[in-house]
Amino acid sequence: MKVALAADHGGFRLKETIKDFLGERGVAFHDFGCYSEKSCDYIDWGEKAAEKVAKGEFERGILICGTGLGMNIVANKFPGVRAAACYDLYATRQSREHNDCNILVLAGRMTGEDLAREIVNEWLTAKFKKDERYKRRLEKLKKLEQKNFK
Ligand code: RB5
Repeated sequence: MKVALAADHGGFRLKETIKDFLGERGVAFHDFGCYSEKSCDYIDWGEKAAEKVAKGEFERGILICGTGLGMNIVANKFPGVRAAACYDLYATRQSREHNDCNILVLAGRMTGEDLAREIVNEWLTAKFKKDERYKRRLEKLKKLEQKNFK
C-alpha cells in the first residue's frame, strides 16, 4: 500500500509524526507537502495528494489541517475519493468497514500525537466489510458522482 500525505501549516507537525509512524510500520508513503509551519492554503496541498488517490496512483491518502474540516472538503471534491475526518477510533474503524474510505483526515490542532498514531493504525488495519448493503451504498455514491461531477 502506498499512502499520499499532505498537510497545511496547521497539520505540518502531526504530518511529521505520522511520517515517522508509517516508516516504523514499513508503510510506503510520499509527502506532497507542505514543508514548514509557514501559513499556507490547505487547498493547494490537499489537492496534490487527493488527486493521486483519485487517479489510482496511490491507494490511500492521509490529509491533515488544523481541524480536519478544510482538507476533508477538498478531498471529497475528487471523484472516487471517500474521505472522512476522524477524531476517535470508532469513527475511524467505521470509515473503513462501512464506507471504504480511502482518505483519512486528521486534525493537527485537536488530536494529540498518541491518539493520531492509534487512529492511523486502526485505519490501516480495518477492512471494508463486503456486505451487500455496504456495497449497495457505495454503488449509489458512485452514481451520485456520475450525476454531479461533470
Ligand atoms: C488554518 O488556520 C486552518 O483554518 C486550517 O488548518 C484548517 O483547519 C481548515 O479547515
